[in-house]
Amino acid sequence: MDISRTEIADWIHADSPEIINELYRIADRVRYEFVGDEVHLRGLVEFSNYCARDCQYCGIGVNCSDISRYRMSHDEILECARNIVELKYGTMVLQSGEDWGIDTEWMTTLLKRIKDETGLAVTLSVGERTDDELLEWFEAGADRFLLRFETTNQALYEKIHPNLGDKVSNRFGMLKRMREIGYEVGSGAMVGIPGQTYNDVVNDIMMFRELDLDMIGIGPYIPSPGTPLYDDVSLQRVVPGSVDMACRVVALARLVCPKSNIPSTTALATLNGVDGRIQGLSCGANILMPNITPAKYREMYSIYPSKTALNEKESGISLSEWLEFIGRIQGSGRGDSINKVER
Ligand code: 5AD
Repeated sequence: MDISRTEIADWIHADSPEIINELYRIADRVRYEFVGDEVHLRGLVEFSNYCARDCQYCGIGVNCSDISRYRMSHDEILECARNIVELKYGTMVLQSGEDWGIDTEWMTTLLKRIKDETGLAVTLSVGERTDDELLEWFEAGADRFLLRFETTNQALYEKIHPNLGDKVSNRFGMLKRMREIGYEVGSGAMVGIPGQTYNDVVNDIMMFRELDLDMIGIGPYIPSPGTPLYDDVSLQRVVPGSVDMACRVVALARLVCPKSNIPSTTALATLNGVDGRIQGLSCGANILMPNITPAKYREMYSIYPSKTALNEKESGISLSEWLEFIGRIQGSGRGDSINKVER
């Protein structure tokens, strides 16, 4: 869509509820025109909370010493995959910290087993890995890769996401590489990070378009006790990490990337329960990611407090019934990005 930087900035700065609702309405219509009423469900499996990084915002960083660490076995993950097939979701999302205990071959073997036994589409969300691994895992069957750039403000990014030893973090380089290899490419940002400005948020949205993303994950920053950023008073919080502000970014992401797959994220639901989730779906989002991680591990994947998992059954009704209730339908098939298919 032809929307200018100035227009994006105007929507971000708008303060009248009427104007904001107008943005939501436009985004909802664009969502309907380009990707329809289907909501694709992705079964999320948080299979390891080991992480070598020290991201200042995240509750499972290497220095978060008061959590227990776990890494699921191949068999446990396969069990989740079967569960996802039974629920008739088309995709499994494998998410973890940046766990160097997971080597190339471990993942390759796992991917082959999942593809052989289930045929599910598989999305990886495992942090920054090498070019060779990206290629090998794609060849082993991984279809999609999620790696948020978190913020386009480079100085802020470097502050909240310290390099790992002498390995310089280059997420944009990785996203480019994924595209070349043939992955469906997903990225995104947090909204309301301390030190982030409104101008930064506008730049993030411009970046979604520049990267021509197939998937865009947007969530409010949620302060996580015990992390360095939680106690850092040197960075001023200018942009609110609110449901409203995150939803505006979701809506604008829909306008700049009308064909992409955009989830109503866990962070939205964490701030405002079912309402947050519905709000995301009604301002441009078309994806939900129910959490399939076995109950005994869930608490340990504590990237921020009170993380609200979306379950298949809530208040006694299934997600597909729930979706119908809000005027949408459960997507069928893998829910590939039409953006990628057409490219
Ligand atoms: N608040 C909101 N989102 C967070 N993430 C990590 N920590 C937080 C937090 N405190 C998000 C990051 C990461 C994704 C997996 O979770 O954007 O990419």
